Amino acid sequence: MFVKNRVEVELTAGRLPAGFPGLLSERTLCHSRRGRAGASQNLPPLRPSFGVLVTFHCPVLDNSESPISCRAGIGNKKQPVLAPSPRGTPPASASRRRAQQLAGARPANSWGMNRKARVLLHSAPNVTMLAPPLRQQSLGAGRVSQPPCRRRTPNPNPVCHNAAAQGCDPPSPTGLQATQESPHVYTREEVRSHSSPETRIWVTLGCEVFDVTEFVDLHPGGPSKLMLAAGGPLEPFWALYAVHNQPHVREMLAQYKIGELSPEDKVPSTLKTSDPYIDDPVRHPALKVNSQRPFNAEPPPELLTENYITPNPIFFTRNHLPVPNLDPETYRLHVVGPPGGQSLCLSLDDLYKFPKHEITVTLQCAGNRRSEMTQFKEVRGLEWNIGAISTARWAGARLCDVLAKAGHQLSETEAHVCFEGLDSDPTGTAYGASIPLARAMDPEAEVLLAYEMNGQPLPRDHGFPVRVVVPGVVGARHVKWLGKVSVEPEESYSHWQRRDYKGFSPSVDWDTVDFDSAPSIQELPVQSAITEPKDGETVQSGEVTIKGYAWSGGGRAVVRVDVSLDGGLTWHVAELDGEEQRPRKAWAWRLWQLQAPVPAGRKELNIVCKAVDDSYNVQPDTVAPIWNLRGVLSNAWHRVHVHVAP
Ligand code: MTE
Repeated sequence: MFVKNRVEVELTAGRLPAGFPGLLSERTLCHSRRGRAGASQNLPPLRPSFGVLVTFHCPVLDNSESPISCRAGIGNKKQPVLAPSPRGTPPASASRRRAQQLAGARPANSWGMNRKARVLLHSAPNVTMLAPPLRQQSLGAGRVSQPPCRRRTPNPNPVCHNAAAQGCDPPSPTGLQATQESPHVYTREEVRSHSSPETRIWVTLGCEVFDVTEFVDLHPGGPSKLMLAAGGPLEPFWALYAVHNQPHVREMLAQYKIGELSPEDKVPSTLKTSDPYIDDPVRHPALKVNSQRPFNAEPPPELLTENYITPNPIFFTRNHLPVPNLDPETYRLHVVGPPGGQSLCLSLDDLYKFPKHEITVTLQCAGNRRSEMTQFKEVRGLEWNIGAISTARWAGARLCDVLAKAGHQLSETEAHVCFEGLDSDPTGTAYGASIPLARAMDPEAEVLLAYEMNGQPLPRDHGFPVRVVVPGVVGARHVKWLGKVSVEPEESYSHWQRRDYKGFSPSVDWDTVDFDSAPSIQELPVQSAITEPKDGETVQSGEVTIKGYAWSGGGRAVVRVDVSLDGGLTWHVAELDGEEQRPRKAWAWRLWQLQAPVPAGRKELNIVCKAVDDSYNVQPDTVAPIWNLRGVLSNAWHRVHVHVAP
């Protein structure tokens, strides 16, 4: 029987040979659970003192899942390729025999290695999962020796070896057992001393210790976020970013397990109880919750288009951090003035003195309908259905008036208005985003510093007391709990401006993505979805009523919605409801409906909708050509399959 197994190769410099069997690049290490990668890959130049862990899968001839572990340095032309270890007894198991074959018995050139880049397996095949730590000199200058790689196979009955002694609650946090032998035991002090790339980066979760050095650069939230936990426990950060608390994240983390905490070093109980979300507001029970901490939720489809204006309690919510609890009395908005000019520090009363401007605006998250992309191929992000979109009547001061008061004017050179929220992570890093100055200064663009939503003060989840509303633009730029506005020569340096909310080709994956190469999403493409009937529902024969919404970014009006009952072979034109839209200022959605006869004898209907905007932009018919690794901009024809009652 062939079983995929893992072999680790530690490289100290250089490039990997072509044809190395089943090689995964260093960047795919964390995704290795998804399966085996293709051919070998070139590694970027490495810092000489800093190794890179590379994982590849190789077929193993029995069903033992013992990993084979070995380290390699890049040899030069004179060094032997894949030299077998001179010492030790050949391993007994079939998997080890296979390791032997791979590492030594097989002629090097049968792997198609090019002569300039050769891999020397210093210790294979005899360094296996049970081998002692490699000596420092074999790791290259500046490297710190590591404990041996251990069994990393999911265990159906996980135990934390020190659980009883430590008061840790079994099962172990990763739900995985590192080894069948006694684990390495580390003190918290030892863990603390591993907090930089030079010393390697260790973290703990529960009673387990992980060396995440190789993962830091791959951390989806950015290396700096993971470095916050370096040398310490992950719990306070996982409490904040609860998205981590999922089986696949635990599974990934388990790959980096190196041991357990000593019994004296149990997790401080304060870490278990501290909950940064404890002060979040109470939410409406009708909301479909995508994540509790941070809170992300959408209204169910049947409520979404009940009203043209979405009631505040069921307006979709997209939070990245805990909701700040701000005192309207002491609240101040800092507006940084131009060089040599004056900055403003505005209270709510100061903001009320600006002319009050009121507009109806639809806000849509870039991840709306992401779940349809996921069905096609896995993406990273919250599984939004069709409800990460809502419409409200917003009132506040126009941003252009406030910027003008601070002395700003349109500049000839490119400039951006950067916004900072008052929600922040433990380091004080706030949510941030930016829009081009030209849009901010344009009175026709109607960008608001909003303090009212549907005639009420903003609810806490939606930015109380002040948020930005940027009509026609992706939700991510509508910064809530606004604390600071400044005009900068470049876009916001926020993670959410530079490392998220960007679109990529379907060919780009997490190994090849270059966030700097893509523009940040601003105006969104044309969108529509069916809210009634629901997928899988049974409709009456005779006539069917179909309802939905349609919207386009940049103020482009929806001019038509086409609906098909037969998967797109024939079409009906839906009736558009809702407010008339102003040319180039169509900030809000159109609700639409269609009453159509159900063709006689049909047992099921494949209902499809697509909208057309006033630039004659249309939605793509399928997800495949617009799929992207982050699952944003999902606007393929919306499809609903229903049964017809006999
Ligand atoms: N502003 C702050 N300060 N913090 C946030 O997490 N989320 C953004 C944006 N503004 C966010 C924020 C995103 S991604 C979206 S889609 C919208 O707020 C959602 O606004 P809503 O929750 O009022 O619907």
